[in-house]
Amino acid sequence: MKNATLHQLKVFEAVARHSSFTRAAEELFLTQPTVSMQVKQLAKAVGAPLFEQVGKRLYLTEAGKDLYTTCREIFDRLAQFETSIANLKGLKQGTLRLAVVTTAKYVVPRLLGPFCQRYPGIDISLTVTNHERVIDNLLDNRDDLYILSQPPEDLDVNIHPFLENPLVVLAWRDHPLTREKNIPLKRVAEEPFIMREPGSGTRKSIQKMFDEQGLALNVKLDLGSNEAIKQAIAGGLGISALSLHTMALEGRDSPLTILDVEGFPIERYWYLVYPGGKQLSVIAQAFFEYLLNEGKTVAEQTAFQGFFSYARQLGGG
Ligand code: PGA
Repeated sequence: MKNATLHQLKVFEAVARHSSFTRAAEELFLTQPTVSMQVKQLAKAVGAPLFEQVGKRLYLTEAGKDLYTTCREIFDRLAQFETSIANLKGLKQGTLRLAVVTTAKYVVPRLLGPFCQRYPGIDISLTVTNHERVIDNLLDNRDDLYILSQPPEDLDVNIHPFLENPLVVLAWRDHPLTREKNIPLKRVAEEPFIMREPGSGTRKSIQKMFDEQGLALNVKLDLGSNEAIKQAIAGGLGISALSLHTMALEGRDSPLTILDVEGFPIERYWYLVYPGGKQLSVIAQAFFEYLLNEGKTVAEQTAFQGFFSYARQLGGG
């Protein structure tokens, strides 16, 4: 193994975790041939194949499984070492690793501004992805803190709400339903609907509400991004339900509007979450306290003027 490099182990770990060269390449911002080459060289250093392809699926060999466990131990130890070095340096230097659900990208970067001004030596690594992948990161202990709207009920985690995150029904500005009040859910279910992808927390909340009423949505399209959904609504492809915060930077001339639908807004919160046994670094602890004590005020101060009073009228924010 003496010819193996830490970089190769990192690449191998990502391929093994995703069971996919393509997804590992995406995560590491590498090309797929580079990823394959790194794994090939590592297998040569090990002296045994690490993966086998059966049909379309990729499996770890026995040697691969052993190496995967070893990698996880090495990276956990390195993360612990990084934390203790960062703690020695206090808040002067180090990295804060955050993984947040896609709706939080409309707020968290604004909250990071004043925090980074207070502690200019701190670097931020911010992963924005859907609910399911944030949970994967949490299970893998890859980040310091996680922000979710639906905290996992079956895991040993610390959970702290810090800001409202209501879901609202959005339509294009001239949609016929904009003239109606208290629109029945049944009526919404008849409209062409644009849905977030499987694994999305937004999708789960909407599905739950319609399931509880025994209604099936007329889903025309699945899209993996809130912004793409907004564009599709503006393009007249259908209506959707998204976090109110996706409207945070839309001005008065926005092509989108919020419909008055019974049962909406769906009340939700963003939660700051971290695993039960985790020792927070000094930096993560400072961000945790900042978010709980000042998060809501800073979010209001830095939002598009009038956004939060509008949110309050709707019963959220
Ligand atoms: P999503 O989560 O990005 O997985 O839809 C957003 C949320 O639950 O607020």
